[in-house]
Amino acid sequence: TDTLRLGIAGLGTVGVGVVKIVQRQAALLSARTGHEITISAVSARTRDKDRGVNLAAYAWEDDPVALAKRDDVDVFLELMGGDEGPAKDATEAALKAGKDVVSANKALLAHHGQALAELAEAQGVALRFEAAVAGGIPVIKSLTEGLAGNRITRVMGVMNGTCNYILTRMDEAGLSYQEAFDEADGLGYLEADPNLDVGGIDAGHKLALLASIAFGTKVAFDDMRLEGIGAVSIDDIRRAGDLGYKIKLLGVAQMTGRGLEQRMTPCLVPETSPLGQLVGGTNMVVIEGDAVEQIVLRGPGAGEGPTASAVVGDICDIARGLRLPVFGQPAGSLTTAPPANAESP
Ligand code: NDP
Ligand code: HSE
Repeated sequence: TDTLRLGIAGLGTVGVGVVKIVQRQAALLSARTGHEITISAVSARTRDKDRGVNLAAYAWEDDPVALAKRDDVDVFLELMGGDEGPAKDATEAALKAGKDVVSANKALLAHHGQALAELAEAQGVALRFEAAVAGGIPVIKSLTEGLAGNRITRVMGVMNGTCNYILTRMDEAGLSYQEAFDEADGLGYLEADPNLDVGGIDAGHKLALLASIAFGTKVAFDDMRLEGIGAVSIDDIRRAGDLGYKIKLLGVAQMTGRGLEQRMTPCLVPETSPLGQLVGGTNMVVIEGDAVEQIVLRGPGAGEGPTASAVVGDICDIARGLRLPVFGQPAGSLTTAPPANAESP
């Protein structure tokens, strides 16, 4: 068929953003992919809610699992959130029904991405999740496509807008942690459970996904060293400033002689460095490879437009027939990489 038909589960910040782009850019998306991209059906918790977009032309499903299995859906978009329940059930149902899936749900993928990836691979369908890591920054695409010729040596960055915003406002405006937190809340940066943000867990989810792609390992969120920003005081920030440093919630993943090391912790970074100068809700990912040396990607890690931009990018790749094995690895390679110094059997 020349038409790619979407089923969208979740009509919140991200879902509505996707609807807007698909409606507004229909001609552009068709010209760029050679396919008309249409929406067949949508689902959310509450049907009668003004979401600021016209949904009248689309079928409604109360149950996201039913939406995932509809015959008139080619690509299922999981934009609800949550690492269990309907998000997991509907994603599994879609993959089992032979649908391509696009997800923004880093919590689901960090916990179940490995199994979902293997299911997608077995079904010969795509599971894509650019929006799940650093929102609008096309970091997964950079790793799997532009940097495909590199052995990646290190991935690091600031991947949670809420934490960076809070640390920035405590530093620059002298706000208390709670005042800065309340501002971040007002900007819509927070996860439904804000402990995921300030506890470093959301950023940890993102780093675990990136590391698995960069190093060809299984998603290993449980092995990550995690520490949030709850214990960072204004005094800490001031003392760091006196020494020429900023405090950032920084994620680092690298392959060492002991295997994959991943940590997401508050760190001192030089205030003159790109990471030190990153303010507000912006994200930054630094990737190092043996050929490219180092690249720095910077951009909005959250919000309606940026996150929807990444989701639509994935949809376009699927329309173009790009069904690369998930986590960027060749089929059958979704195994834990041996430590760099391991001997061959
Ligand atoms: P919202 O809370 O704004 O929207 C969630 C949507 O899912 C709502 O429309 C809600 O319905 C619907 N929903 C929730 N539970 C169910 C259910 N059981 N059955 C059917 N529908 C359900 O979330 P966001 O749009 O912000 O986030 C969506 C996903 O994208 C999450 O995984 C999030 O982590 C991820 N993400 C978000 C970013 C952002 O900037 N917001 C950035 C990157 C990723 P209703 O509206 O009726 O309540
Ligand atoms: N709560 C997340 C953040 C949203 O603050 O970065 C984007 O993933």
